[in-house]
Amino acid sequence: MVCYEAPEWAQLQSHFHALQGDFDLQRAFAQDAQRLARLSQAAPYVFADLSKNWIQADTETLLGQLAQTCQVAAQRDAMLAGQPINGTEGRAVMHWLLRTPADGGLLREHPVTQDWDGSMRQALSDVHGSLEAMLQLAEQLRANAQITDVVNIGIGGSHLGPEVVVQALEDWVDTGKNFHFVSNVDGHELGHVLRKVKPESTLFLIASKSFTTAETMLNAHSARTWFLAHGGSADAQATCSIDRHFVALTTNTEAAAQFGISRTLGFWDWVGGRFSLWSAIGLPIAIAIGALQFRRMLDGAHAMDAHFFTAAHAQNLPVRLGLLDVWNRNFCGFGSRCVAPYSHGLRRLTAYLQQLEMESNGKRATRAGQPLAVPTSPVVWGEPGTNGQHAFFQMLHQGPDVIPVEFIALRDGGKYLGAHHQSLVINAIAQAQALMVGRSGQGVARDCPGNRPSTFLLLDALEPASLGALIALYEHRIFVSGAVWGINSFDQWGVELGKQLAQGLRERQRSHDWQGVDPSTVALMQRLAASPVNGN
Ligand code: F6P
Repeated sequence: MVCYEAPEWAQLQSHFHALQGDFDLQRAFAQDAQRLARLSQAAPYVFADLSKNWIQADTETLLGQLAQTCQVAAQRDAMLAGQPINGTEGRAVMHWLLRTPADGGLLREHPVTQDWDGSMRQALSDVHGSLEAMLQLAEQLRANAQITDVVNIGIGGSHLGPEVVVQALEDWVDTGKNFHFVSNVDGHELGHVLRKVKPESTLFLIASKSFTTAETMLNAHSARTWFLAHGGSADAQATCSIDRHFVALTTNTEAAAQFGISRTLGFWDWVGGRFSLWSAIGLPIAIAIGALQFRRMLDGAHAMDAHFFTAAHAQNLPVRLGLLDVWNRNFCGFGSRCVAPYSHGLRRLTAYLQQLEMESNGKRATRAGQPLAVPTSPVVWGEPGTNGQHAFFQMLHQGPDVIPVEFIALRDGGKYLGAHHQSLVINAIAQAQALMVGRSGQGVARDCPGNRPSTFLLLDALEPASLGALIALYEHRIFVSGAVWGINSFDQWGVELGKQLAQGLRERQRSHDWQGVDPSTVALMQRLAASPVNGN
């Protein structure tokens, strides 16, 4: 049965129709003194206030019943049991195992982990073997004063996670090294980095789960060509050798060896690309913040994992947020969600969440291959505050579309300019308040309708453990909405089409055979060939 055929779906629709037109956030607070207590909660490292959403306690009850019918808990347990829940690729989904302590940690007593067979126990032991090796290498590289620049070449999950974390934990980056993240195949990105570095003091990390992604491979080849042209050597005995200055982070160790990289850190096909920052893909993070802080990040994520895998639905933050996402998308009809981190450190978080959520849940078929008749992933977008306030918040306050906003803020702003931090967070709180209360009595042009929904996530501080917990919270929340929709949140077949067509066009460009290609595409390709940029 697909989710929208469940009787609970129809009940939620009726519930929405009953609320619609009459639901007013301010009145809801006035009528229910317990509203804030009921609709907010503390989870590991994160306090969440859901009370400014178009929900009531009975909305959550109905959503909980839908989750039960959709067997969200059973799907979650199947993930914990290591079952191949990524059906189209025949893979288990076990990124959470990467942050599970060797003895099972907070999950050690869980009935599912008690039943783990030998292969799961072996997987956990392999995880720790690889983690030790990765952290050892990270410490060696950190201590190597000759290396002043670390250049991570990767894209998607092999780029966004490490970039977000290294930026976010800037105050923990104590190696005196510069970190560069190159992802775009636009040569300007790599070119600008290579202009600033020298082969003898640069470490290149070639990060690609598949080691076949076209953009990463082209950037990696160009980096190697530059390295060899500027005094680097392919001779393993040389001091400035590819052996010493390139490391591959991949599950495809064979392809890395063919590329000529002997130092490879591997991981497993059960780690999805967008969930991989906890694996060898996290090497740049470990070099930046060191083994101890990397482990703290894993511990924070593990605390959130344990919360997700054990807490009852009603007090399980990833479950509540995932169900709120379903409510907003399918019943309120909101097509997008704005994420506004009020933190300079988290300035790239929204880009990371775009891949996490839209690549995971941007699907239109169930796991059984049935077309879904209801929308799935919303468009996730946003910018850090307060910048967003001076750009698109106008539309959020007065535009005809209602767009839920998710504020992320920190109680303690860290070591710089405390007065700035107060101003920053007060702005976030005031925006959430303004969206709710609006303004009236000043004429249509100036009035703000108010009653606009928002969620507020508050971390004590931006540090490795809280950041790990925050990211794990998003991973699990996306799992929950995907589980309700009955989709496979762990494949990404849509991305393949563009890759294949780009390859086809590269071949046709060489053969000049345009037969069967649509006129618009041919005309654009011919303009490209005639472009003055090419000197033709
Ligand atoms: O965008 C598709 C995708 O496959 C992502 O899922 C992945 O994170 C990215 O490409 C990079 O893939 P790889 O790590 O294999 O280079």
